[in-house]
Amino acid sequence: MITNATIETLMNRKSVRKYTDRKLDDDELETIVRAGQQAAFASQLYSVLYSTEKPIAFDAAIWFLICVDVHKLERFMKLRGWDIVTNDLTLLLLGMQDASYMAQNMVVAAESLGIGSCFLGAVSSSAQRIRALSEKLTLPERVLPMVELVMGYPDEEFAPRPRYPLAFTLFENRYPEFTDKEVEEAMRVMDDGYLQQGYYRKQNVKIQVEGGRRDDYTFDNYSWTEHISRKWGQWAASPDELLDALKERGFSFMKSNE
Ligand SMILES: Cc1cc2nc3c(=O)[nH]c(=O)nc-3n(C[C@H](O)[C@H](O)[C@H](O)COP(=O)(O)O)c2cc1C
Repeated sequence: MITNATIETLMNRKSVRKYTDRKLDDDELETIVRAGQQAAFASQLYSVLYSTEKPIAFDAAIWFLICVDVHKLERFMKLRGWDIVTNDLTLLLLGMQDASYMAQNMVVAAESLGIGSCFLGAVSSSAQRIRALSEKLTLPERVLPMVELVMGYPDEEFAPRPRYPLAFTLFENRYPEFTDKEVEEAMRVMDDGYLQQGYYRKQNVKIQVEGGRRDDYTFDNYSWTEHISRKWGQWAASPDELLDALKERGFSFMKSNE
């Protein structure tokens, strides 16, 4: 791989879950958010709210809420005499991209300043969290909490976490048909990487499963692929509550004939 300061910053970024007491100053905050704004956008369909009031997850210095924001678009289009006719699904898909690229730029900018970060995804599965944050932060309709993000100066040191091999990620010209062996090889790379770091032991993750599944895992064999399988093999089966919360936020996804 080629390396330079930017690539090094990207390759060294990791989610930090232990922070020192050091606060971020105004210059740091401004730099991080301005660098975030400089990401590519479809229509700048985002807003960022922040707070330094504790409690903050992992006792980080600052908490951000990155929102998809169609409200500001509506406001300026109105001033130009336009109404939005584009469907909410398209707006949401584009808005999530705008907000994501902006958020990741913030993370990388922070990393380059020695400031660590961690995303928190509860709003993607919890209607209750969407409602609570919307109320607390007085979000207008058409503003949807997309992801929480905490930052601060790291108080832990460890190697970057593993990723799938490139052969399981990058495909030239056509998508391959994976053999089970190829899938297992990608799983092994991830699982070995997490086991080597003792990640789940350090986090004291609950590794015994209820419900009659295999329950003989220990911190020596509990793996990333098992951890992830358990999430998406158990959580959030119904979209109904989330759809209700999105509707309350002013986003509706009915087919036009329903
Ligand atoms: C959308 C999203 C949601 C996440 N939610 C959480 C979370 O709720 N709690 C947490 O500790 N980490 C969360 N993370 C961090 C991931 O666990 C982390 O990025 C992933 O395990 C890879 O580790 P790394 O960032 O250190 O490379 C989230 C990351 C993303 C992008």
